[in-house]
Amino acid sequence: MLTITDQDFLRLVDYVQKNFGIDLSKKKQLITSRLSNSIVTAGFADFSAYINHIIQTSDKNSIEMMLNKLTTNYTYFLREANHFDFLKNTILPRLIKQKKNKVLSIWSAGCSSGEEPYTISMILKDYLGAQAAAWDTRVLATDISQKVLAQAQNAIYEAESLSKIPDRWKTEYFKKLPDGRYAVAPHIKSNVIFRTFNLMNPIQFKIKFDVIFCRNVMIYFDQPTKDALVNRFYHATNAGGYLLIGHSESLNKERLAYKYIMPATYQKI
Ligand SMILES: C[S@@+](CC[C@H](N)C(=O)[O-])C[C@H]1O[C@@H](n2cnc3c(N)ncnc32)[C@H](O)[C@@H]1O
Repeated sequence: MLTITDQDFLRLVDYVQKNFGIDLSKKKQLITSRLSNSIVTAGFADFSAYINHIIQTSDKNSIEMMLNKLTTNYTYFLREANHFDFLKNTILPRLIKQKKNKVLSIWSAGCSSGEEPYTISMILKDYLGAQAAAWDTRVLATDISQKVLAQAQNAIYEAESLSKIPDRWKTEYFKKLPDGRYAVAPHIKSNVIFRTFNLMNPIQFKIKFDVIFCRNVMIYFDQPTKDALVNRFYHATNAGGYLLIGHSESLNKERLAYKYIMPATYQKI
């Protein structure tokens, strides 16, 4: 394994924080263990040469490799189920009554390998039943890591990732493969649109959102980065819409434009 000098470590931490929001200041060990092999394979003599290359050239491929290695992508279907109960029991009944244009706009920001947006898509189909065809329920799902987005688009998962999924859903919304893994059914898969998006960038999608899921993403951001992102989310939320964050995360209630509804759940009033 390569070693990294304190100076190079600080240069890399600073670059990643400024460009991608991710705070690696306590992750020296993670950086060396996850990046060393790839740096050597790519032909760099040491961390110093690699960091010079990244900072000076902003080379897309090297940055992609770095993000694929450094981001934490852990997720599973129906994670933090309270939010999905709230979606089904409170948010959807209200939106279905209110939205005359029959468009529901939901964004999974930091979607990782797709379990979260596919879970949302299943809740939507389950709730709307036969009415689903009359609604535009497409879910936007974005992440900064190409690697997880490719896995999301492949839509094949180990049985372990489905451990919280009810049996009925396993038959209706998945196909069990001969090797024991599960493929997401085409009608659930086609309802999710995956895009690469860096949450540090301005949010310029054509529509505003009724619900933004940004769960277990800002956990890696420092406070000013988090505050600025939540402010951008606020402007991208429809009146009455929601922001859902991870249950182990918190927002600064005093500086917050959203109204606190319950743990990890905020509304634009
Ligand atoms: C732990 S996963 C969360 C997955 C899912 N939302 C959940 O709660 O299970 C965090 C995801 O945030 C993504 N991420 C981190 N920084 C990002 C950024 N600046 N822009 C977009 N996505 C980012 C990572 O690539 C990773 O896939």
